[in-house]
Amino acid sequence: VWASIQAEQPDALVLLGDNVYLDTDVHTDPVRLSTELHGLYQAQKKDPYFAALLADLQAQGKPLLATYDDHDFLGDNRYGGDHDPALRETARALLIQHFNPPRTGSDVYSVNRFGLVDLFMLDERFYRRRPLASALDRDAILGAGQWEWFEREFRASSAPFIVIGSSTTVHTWGNESWEMYPAAFNRLRDLVRGRQGALVLSGDVHRNAAYDDSGILEIVTSAVARESFVFGKVRDNYAVLTFAPTGVRVELRSRKAGWRFDFTIPLGGNAWELP
Ligand SMILES: [Fe+2]
Repeated sequence: VWASIQAEQPDALVLLGDNVYLDTDVHTDPVRLSTELHGLYQAQKKDPYFAALLADLQAQGKPLLATYDDHDFLGDNRYGGDHDPALRETARALLIQHFNPPRTGSDVYSVNRFGLVDLFMLDERFYRRRPLASALDRDAILGAGQWEWFEREFRASSAPFIVIGSSTTVHTWGNESWEMYPAAFNRLRDLVRGRQGALVLSGDVHRNAAYDDSGILEIVTSAVARESFVFGKVRDNYAVLTFAPTGVRVELRSRKAGWRFDFTIPLGGNAWELP
């Protein structure tokens, strides 16, 4: 799948998390967490096809934009705000060491500008707490500082397109989503809905999908390598987004479905919604 992605010759590569997969989901010792994550990142970077893809991007000056999700952070459905702060600091340091994401201060969230597109990469793990602890918290998932930064930069953006890179899905599919945090979900919807050209790009749930039920337009694409828990087959899911002044073409690639999901969302009409 890495060779297929390299053949696409992307202008930027976005990795939305679960980029490596922790075997241990109950880490309590930062040193052990560091050791396991470090070994996983090293193994991933030794994969010859992945290494070739990264080398090709680097040779062309094209960025890798990576964030983490749960399995390359503290483990299955775990959140930085629920545990010893040393654990989340460790996981973030390992992401920085190995994938060097753009940063805002010491944080790994960022806005990246590519002509027609402003691409936000959010950190949805470091400040997050379990849903029951923050259902009514408007700062949930991102934390107060990241929320303020995100709203300010989003509203200031004059780019025709705004892509929000989100490790977890907005709409509920699996067992984690923004919808499980009603106050934060409403805050996101108030920000995004009605803004022509804005869409969320998310991963996590081992499927390709597109939703606009809530007024937030969301493209889901995952996972590049793991078997789908829905269909039990290797699917090699990834997405290619191609931006033009008239709209964004979305190709959801899958070994199983080929290029079946290939549509363009036109920009400039009255509605900004899935075709
Ligand atoms: Fe995940």
